[in-house]
Amino acid sequence: MRSPLVVGNWKMHGDLAGNLQLLQQVIAGVPAAGAVDMVVCAPFPYLEQVRNLLAATPVGWGAQTLSEHAQGAYTGEVSAGMLREFGCRYVIVGHSERRALFSESDEQVAAKFLAACNAGLVPILCVGETLAQRESGETVRVVEKQLQVVLDRAGVERFSSAVVAYEPVWAIGTGRTATPEQAQEVHVAIRSCLARLDQQVASGLQILYGGSVKAQNAGEIFAQADIDGGLIGGASLVADDFLAICQAANR
Ligand code: PGA
Repeated sequence: MRSPLVVGNWKMHGDLAGNLQLLQQVIAGVPAAGAVDMVVCAPFPYLEQVRNLLAATPVGWGAQTLSEHAQGAYTGEVSAGMLREFGCRYVIVGHSERRALFSESDEQVAAKFLAACNAGLVPILCVGETLAQRESGETVRVVEKQLQVVLDRAGVERFSSAVVAYEPVWAIGTGRTATPEQAQEVHVAIRSCLARLDQQVASGLQILYGGSVKAQNAGEIFAQADIDGGLIGGASLVADDFLAICQAANR
């Protein structure tokens, strides 16, 4: 049985005072009973604040990206080892904004995924198609290709301590969500892709849906058999909304 997981992706939002208020409200509202795991992924400068505030709570935390390199002359980059030494557990890898705005290739995403695994971090690997790709019927092919490059580089066993997030690019921050059935179809494709290599890893893999998940639509999305939780952008910045989404995943 896969436990549900809800990850908040703050993106480049926040400030010390606002983060404090948000996290205090989240901590106060953590569902008392149940199995949902909660994680927040903050910008680098706020990781220390987040680490300190969440230390004695059940809420986990992580970063939003990392370098594929271990160390060296890579000005501005942060390595997996640095994150791990700092106490970080999770890291988002290959978010579509990184792929589109910072030209991260499938190969680079795979290298980052492997770097995270090698350092003992849990990578949250994002995959997803653009609107044009969906409209031309390429969704499953695109997602499988993104996944395959990581599988080739890192091996299926690495997915036993990783998370995958299906995030259709056209649904991120747009207010447009995939229907629960559309999302479920892609989640099944992702799980099948892994199952061809390792049935056990595939059935234990947490696959999150991301893209305009709100308190109002979370329940029907999380009700799908292969949707194990969510990667939440905008709604993770509002404590009540984030908590309501976590509650919806708490089954
Ligand atoms: P959204 O973002 O919930 O604001 O659509 C999701 C994400 O980018 O992870």
